[in-house]
Amino acid sequence: MNSIQEELKLKFQVAIAQALDTEGAETDPMLVPASNPQFGDYQSNVAMSLAKKVGKPPRAIAESIVQHLDLADLCEPPTIAGPGFINLTLKPAYLEAQLNAISRDDRLGVATTKHPLRAIVDFSSPNIAKEMHVGHLRSTIIGDCIARILEFRGQDVLRLNHVGDWGTQFGMLIAYLREKYPEALTTRDALDLGDLVEFYRQAKKRFDGDPAFQETARLEVVKLQSGVEESRFAWNLLCEQSRREFQQIYQLLDVRLDERGESFYNPLLPAVVEDLDQAGLLVEDAGAKCVFLEGFTNKAGEPLPLIVQKSDGGYNYATTDLAALRYRIQEDEAKRIIYITDAGQASHFAQVFQVARRAGWIPDDVELVHVPFGLVLGEDGRKVSTRAGESVRLKDLLEEAIARFRAYLEAKCIEDQREETAEFKAEVSKVVGISAVKYADLSQNRTSNYIFSYDKMLAPLGNTAPYMLYAYARIRSIGRKGQIDFDRLGNEAKVLLQDETELNLAKHLLQLSETINAVETDLLPNRLCQYLFELSQKFNQFYDRCPVLEAEAPVKTSRLLLCDLTARTLKLGLALLGIPVLERM
Ligand code: ARG
Repeated sequence: MNSIQEELKLKFQVAIAQALDTEGAETDPMLVPASNPQFGDYQSNVAMSLAKKVGKPPRAIAESIVQHLDLADLCEPPTIAGPGFINLTLKPAYLEAQLNAISRDDRLGVATTKHPLRAIVDFSSPNIAKEMHVGHLRSTIIGDCIARILEFRGQDVLRLNHVGDWGTQFGMLIAYLREKYPEALTTRDALDLGDLVEFYRQAKKRFDGDPAFQETARLEVVKLQSGVEESRFAWNLLCEQSRREFQQIYQLLDVRLDERGESFYNPLLPAVVEDLDQAGLLVEDAGAKCVFLEGFTNKAGEPLPLIVQKSDGGYNYATTDLAALRYRIQEDEAKRIIYITDAGQASHFAQVFQVARRAGWIPDDVELVHVPFGLVLGEDGRKVSTRAGESVRLKDLLEEAIARFRAYLEAKCIEDQREETAEFKAEVSKVVGISAVKYADLSQNRTSNYIFSYDKMLAPLGNTAPYMLYAYARIRSIGRKGQIDFDRLGNEAKVLLQDETELNLAKHLLQLSETINAVETDLLPNRLCQYLFELSQKFNQFYDRCPVLEAEAPVKTSRLLLCDLTARTLKLGLALLGIPVLERM
């Protein structure tokens, strides 16, 4: 099923072609939802954009397009406003027919793509032996949502966890542990991640101040890289230790990832450097091999180098990303490669993409996208930290959200004199707590910094997960109260739109498909949150105004269908955000 917007677009393209006597398919009809409901539902700004090209006043162009528009089934007669805006108002009968169609569709009118492509979402990607921090949490939540949306559209998605499991830090860590705690290198479970992180900190301190230790650490790297059994074994243990910790977070969040860490690309690094040389891009600068970048300069205005091999022969983060990029194109055959990291890495990706492009590795049909996000700040506007000023462990942070909702729920149950089992309360609190953290993150425009506030994210009113989950549960309770089996309303059940609030709700329900398509394109999950938030508001306006269970058939059936469609839309939309619904809470 086409979305309404797509349907209108097709009609416009035909009309534009006829009006201008050209290939209308080339022209974007510039259709947008009307800025003000007073002007109708959609508006096309195409006449203004064509005026120059055609050499006629925009109003005349608009008139001629309108004459050729065949929209009688969809819209009231179009009107022209101002300099040449074409305003469209959808017909209730058309909306009814569309709603009846989507109510029989499990996908609620969201089509699967006609041309599935392999897409890679590179997200989460914490570093071994280091604590997973709130930045990784953001990447995990946003990446999972984007992956879910692409998957729902039928794309072939690889969810890759590009963990930092390679590099000089392992030499340092192994050298340090060999000295202080050798069991950690030979015995499983000798350490937990907290200890590991602490050892890492100490090793780093030692490394920074002790040249002899630097040399020992360097030799450890060489041993590891040349595949010495014992070093490999130790490295593996350290990775497993971290992995177990990460997995707990992924489980809590219900996020699936395939790990393909930096070490995976290690054997491919020499070829990257060789090929850059072949392509004539490689320059030696003070012993390091690098590519001079276009458009990146130092303070003196000289081009900056991207180092791909250090003077000691070692490779770095950028070399690995170049190798990964090439592998993803050549071996994975990915057509869209999406990287989810904080905005601080924007120039890293711009540089890697540029070098890969200049080396000729990026075919025209491959899209590379860095999806940046802002910082997570505490309520004091600084980095999120504990009272003692340390960085917060993610597990604690998620558990705190659960505990806070639990406290609220306990109090509410007492207030409402409601008896619930401990099991019920635990389950509801877990879902709401985790969902609140996810929703708080996703509902912001990801490019801005966001303030992590338990009070805000757990508020039962506002653009929050609890609000959305309550909205869903409330609608489901209408069905329960009326003892309605929505699955058995039957195919003859029809939506009839009379009240203005019903029409508004109907139009919004029908915008799910275009909203999801927009998120697929611009990778901004907050649009979907906004859509769902407005949906629940429009539902409330409808429900305040229109009796449902007290109405007489066929109006009652129609209103029940609107309730059911709203609940299903919330459920589907929330699922795409990685949030499960609760039938009761
Ligand atoms: N491990 C990196 C970090 O913690 C993120 C990796 C992102 N992905 C990539 N292909 N570079 O900052």
